[in-house]
Amino acid sequence: MFRRPINKVKPRVLIDCDPGIDDAIALVTAAKYTEILGITTVAGNVSLESTTRNTLALCELLGLDVPVHAGAAHSLRGQVVTAEEVHGDAGLGTLTLPTPKKNIASDDAATYIIESFTHHKNLHLVALGPLTNIAKAIEREPNIVNQITDLTIMGGSARGIGNVTAAAEFNIFADPEAASVVFSSGVRLKMIGLNLTHQVQMGLSESKRLTRHNSVISRTVAELLLSYQSLIYSGNLAKTVPMHDPCAILAVSHPEFFTLSDRNVNVETAGTYTRGLTLVDERRVPAEPNCRVGYEANSRQLIKLILNASMT
Ligand code: RIB
Ligand code: CA
Repeated sequence: MFRRPINKVKPRVLIDCDPGIDDAIALVTAAKYTEILGITTVAGNVSLESTTRNTLALCELLGLDVPVHAGAAHSLRGQVVTAEEVHGDAGLGTLTLPTPKKNIASDDAATYIIESFTHHKNLHLVALGPLTNIAKAIEREPNIVNQITDLTIMGGSARGIGNVTAAAEFNIFADPEAASVVFSSGVRLKMIGLNLTHQVQMGLSESKRLTRHNSVISRTVAELLLSYQSLIYSGNLAKTVPMHDPCAILAVSHPEFFTLSDRNVNVETAGTYTRGLTLVDERRVPAEPNCRVGYEANSRQLIKLILNASMT
């Protein structure tokens, strides 16, 4: 279906994630189109114990022999915000994976992030959950912002779209202080937010196609999709679901299918109704940009890439 151009080199990535149904589909996508150096886990959709176990189990399902380092169990301020109502109590909907044989490489994700960017050039950081681990690494070793090729986050939104509140996207809302550290750090930052990810939706027709393909991974992604639809729409399988985290991975591996603009973005940490809002300055004469914000995605191509990765 897709022939990778011979000269297209897979970008090398360090992924921070909180699996999570869409994180799981993102790892399937990353396994196909990137070279994964390592993975760090963070509390988010479900507890750190569950996101870490899910990550280890997904690596074994995908045959990924990469180190997994556990990170923060709560936000910088000690808060825990989870989303079992969207991802299920264990974090992967109805999917149960065999207990992972491998264990974590460490429980200090921030140190692994610092060491990775100190010793590796041309390494992209992709964050699919709350930004606590990233913020801890930057606070502990500010110089890594100059060593990170770029940081692509699934998080926030342009145009004030929220999901966990009317104003805030989940990954930012779960740790606004960490997000504020990241957005003000000077790191080369790409924000793939809800305004973009809602353009890339999958549902019943894709899960049926994946089931027909009948491989272990295609059936796994089909079950993840059905779980996502059932949990978000209370069983109404006629509705499609947004591919939040896979979009962040594809923004690194296939940037040609995205349109981004330089913007100044601030994170609201104090507002009663707006805590966790990513305020994107779209004025005619805006403040100095600190981020590239995703606005458009070639949804048809991105869905093809996700399906292609799932039908291995
Ligand atoms: O708002 C969507 C984001 O929050 C996704 O990364 C999802 O996995 C949750 O972490
Ligand atoms: Ca996530």
